[in-house]
Amino acid sequence: MSDRKPSDIQADDGPGDIGVSIWLLLLALADLRRHGTWPDRAMGFCLSAGGALVTTPATDSRARLTWGAEGLAPAQGELPGSRDLVDLYSPLFPANTADPLAVAHLGQSIDARIATQSGDSCFVTGPENIVHLHRMRALCDAVIVGAGTVDADNPRLTTRLVQGPNPVRIVIDPERRISPEVGVFNDGAACTLLVCAADRVTARDSDQAVIGLPRRNHGLCLPTLMSALQHRGLRNLFIEGGGVTVSRWMTAGLLKRLHVTVAPVFIGEGRASLGLPPATAMASCLRPDCRVFRLGKDLLWDFDLSGDHPSESKPTSQPQGPRRVC
Ligand SMILES: NC(=O)c1ccc[n+]([C@@H]2O[C@H](COP(=O)([O-])OP(=O)(O)OC[C@H]3O[C@@H](n4cnc5c(N)ncnc54)[C@H](OP(=O)(O)O)[C@@H]3O)[C@@H](O)[C@H]2O)c1
Repeated sequence: MSDRKPSDIQADDGPGDIGVSIWLLLLALADLRRHGTWPDRAMGFCLSAGGALVTTPATDSRARLTWGAEGLAPAQGELPGSRDLVDLYSPLFPANTADPLAVAHLGQSIDARIATQSGDSCFVTGPENIVHLHRMRALCDAVIVGAGTVDADNPRLTTRLVQGPNPVRIVIDPERRISPEVGVFNDGAACTLLVCAADRVTARDSDQAVIGLPRRNHGLCLPTLMSALQHRGLRNLFIEGGGVTVSRWMTAGLLKRLHVTVAPVFIGEGRASLGLPPATAMASCLRPDCRVFRLGKDLLWDFDLSGDHPSESKPTSQPQGPRRVC
């Protein structure tokens, strides 16, 4: 997990030489997606000298980002670092911004561990990926973690390394085993919701702080959680870990994208990354479209889980070089 040593991380670190103004523009667009009216036609965007979002025709020379059939894209002439930044985060701005969108992330070792056996995960990935996590928090409406992560890391789940708002923090703790005294419920940095089994909700709980869910398949019903969050205006969800939690969202078929950042480190026996149901044959394995981004020494794999991607439908005869890796 990412939260314990913020002083080790440079706030400017990121994928490539990004322009600060492009990041501010992405933040303004995230705000528009949350509270405003998303354009239903091609359009350009830039920021005014005072930092306000300005819409322009898509072809206007002032536009730094454009919106159209291909989604959000950098305007012609943007520097490579800015282009990478827009490429990485553009899937958070889908055509229908009213639909819920769940994106998960795991930072793992080469041997697919997200923490040591004792639960230490500070840090699996490098500082550039930690900044990426903070950016994801800033662009999403809510960040979601499992009880195991709160237990091991006592995370803050804020955006303190980047400019941008803190998301609503959501802890999935079906049996309420996490102490209500832990920081995330008390530090006041952002609103925090506890998600537990409906039969663990008490009369003293406020609707503002606790969501009770029906139990399903040895867990909690995640589609019901998505609906409850959407009802509260929380549509873009960032599932930040750990492995058990992300695996449940993925197995439930609720993830639109999955970020797996692989760090050049070997952990050995430790906490597992993804754990998915077994496949009987390679031909039936999930082989989604993906993009690859370099973050310092790490590689971030961005999987598109929005469609049906049976592996047999993939052409395999022409190996292709990864995109966007510098
Ligand atoms: N490298 C990374 O990217 C990263 C990210 C986050 C955390 N971590 C590390 O990973 C470890 C924690 O990960 P983990 O996989 O062991 O645990 P986890 O995913 O954080 O939490 C799992 C627990 O959360 C509850 N839970 C989550 N989703 C649920 C659902 N749909 N239904 C019911 N219960 C649900 C369950 O609690 P109960 O056990 O009470 O049933 C479950 O056992 C820590 O060591 C942490 O430091 C690493």
